[in-house]
Amino acid sequence: MCGIVGITGKKQVTSEILNSLKRLEYRGYDSAGIATLNNDQINEVKCEGRVDVLEKNLLKLDINGNVGIGHVRWATHGAPSDINAHPHSSKEVSVVHNGIIENSMLLKKDLLKKGYNFKSQTDTEVIVHLMSEYLKRYKIKNAVMKMLNSLQGSYALGMIFKDHPNIIIGARRGSPLAVGYGPGENYLGSDSYALKSMTNKISYLNDGEFCIINNDQVEFFDEQGAKINKKILTLSSDEKKYDKGDYKHFMAKEIDEQPNVIKNCVNEYVDKINNEINIFNFPWNEKDIKNIILIGCGTAYHSCLVAKYWFEELTDLEVSVDIASEFRYRKNRLKKETLYIFLSQSGETADTYAALDLCKKNGMKTCAIVNVIESSIARDSDFVLPIYCGPEIGVASTKAFLAQLLVLYILTLKLSFLKKNIDEQTYKQKIKDLKNLHSQVEKTLLLENKINSIANIFSDAKGCMFLGRGSSFPIALEGALKLKELSYVHAEGYPAGEMKHGPLALIEDGMPVVVLAPKDSYYKKTISNMQEVIARGAKVLLVTNKSEDDVFSENIWETIEVELSNSDLIPILLTIPLQKLAYYSALKKGFDIDKPRNLAKSVTVE
Ligand code: F6R
Repeated sequence: MCGIVGITGKKQVTSEILNSLKRLEYRGYDSAGIATLNNDQINEVKCEGRVDVLEKNLLKLDINGNVGIGHVRWATHGAPSDINAHPHSSKEVSVVHNGIIENSMLLKKDLLKKGYNFKSQTDTEVIVHLMSEYLKRYKIKNAVMKMLNSLQGSYALGMIFKDHPNIIIGARRGSPLAVGYGPGENYLGSDSYALKSMTNKISYLNDGEFCIINNDQVEFFDEQGAKINKKILTLSSDEKKYDKGDYKHFMAKEIDEQPNVIKNCVNEYVDKINNEINIFNFPWNEKDIKNIILIGCGTAYHSCLVAKYWFEELTDLEVSVDIASEFRYRKNRLKKETLYIFLSQSGETADTYAALDLCKKNGMKTCAIVNVIESSIARDSDFVLPIYCGPEIGVASTKAFLAQLLVLYILTLKLSFLKKNIDEQTYKQKIKDLKNLHSQVEKTLLLENKINSIANIFSDAKGCMFLGRGSSFPIALEGALKLKELSYVHAEGYPAGEMKHGPLALIEDGMPVVVLAPKDSYYKKTISNMQEVIARGAKVLLVTNKSEDDVFSENIWETIEVELSNSDLIPILLTIPLQKLAYYSALKKGFDIDKPRNLAKSVTVE
């Protein structure tokens, strides 16, 4: 999704902006651009395509200067093109923008009447002309406030000005924005990752705030223009973790990292000596929690769905799951005795943030399960459970999904024990099983070669299905999501028992169908559903777990057996072959695995 970088200093800034834009590439984008102030003139270079195309264009045109802004764009208003790429500039001002201006058409109508010409189809261009208009009448700070007041929708903005040569102005509503501090220079960035190569000293803007950045100071203001103080945070330096190492893709590396991710995460939450789960500073008494609502988007939503099965099995809590973009607009009956849990790898997903904001404004109990602990969702929740999986760069979430599941399971166990829903012996046994999980994941990863050859059929397929029952159903959804987003093959996940109610009509001769049938209480039922699709010509890949019992079924095309474990943990193991299947299917097609088309890592617009 869109990314912003800004630098004001004493040195030339173009190459540093370019480097930061390269760091933002992981977010997924379709065009890029830079604007600087040089000899009292705003210059911009921008183009459709990748940052390396921009880099080549910059070689032809020297637009260096001491102040500049850069952007990677993920199209919302107007197709990806040179002209729609950011920055958007007039003679007086240049603007980069993340978010969506919802009243842009109305503002544009007004500005056209005033004689402004529009070059692009973007919503952002209204900001440029509004700013130019207000600058005619007000001093810069008031002009910015007037302009911001006219906007409806969401924005993170970076602006430079012809007549104010050393400053960058940043403003935030709904889309994240950070300020970084360096020696003799200061920075603006849509996330701390963009700025990490330059500084580890960061402040975050809250909604409604704006800032004026000089090379030697940064001033922050609230919506009314009153000056505010900001905490400066020091970020951990984890640069090494952003390296692909010997891997061809971040995704492949992130899948293989999972045994370590699990080991680390278990170490963070499980006390080695007492064999006890530590969740420190949990701000509520478990007796005050009667219900749980789990909220997320995409893969994070799937982890919520798995957790519902765990909570229902192991606790007496009532649990429901919601897609954030639905939750935020439904007429919800928010309840004080409910714990609202928000799942997000990035911690910046706009819909998940809005759902959290709604709960916060109504005084609800909020808990975030996130990877990025400096993120907006983590900062604004009452309580945070980090997933400790390290930076995830591949757009398709893999290790974060596993770590989300793990933290949700740990939370389930803890609440279950505190609420006396399970006895101590069961509790301790389940903790012991958790400690072994990393080695079962490690062994399951050894299925690699087999999956690689199976992937041929999936990458050539017109469409395919993933079926499961119980907690394997959300894993079927996740398997289908991974395959479709990476190899662009139409894939559907379904509860196996639903097939007869419609989707069975899709089954035709040779269609690949993945059946997730671990040997749990649903096993026999799922195997019957599998027979029904085999009878209609499906080519079935059965994913099950090792056990004493053989599979009693015929005409299965291929079988994959994950390791044997505590049955609660089976969804985690079933996920591994599906991640690999999606990876190899996309690899065979030569697709951009870490940056699938049209997708973004951090979805900061709704
Ligand atoms: C799919 C995927 C997405 C994200 C979703 C939520 O592989 O990664 O579906 O899970 O965009 O993102 P976060 O977890 O950052 O809120």
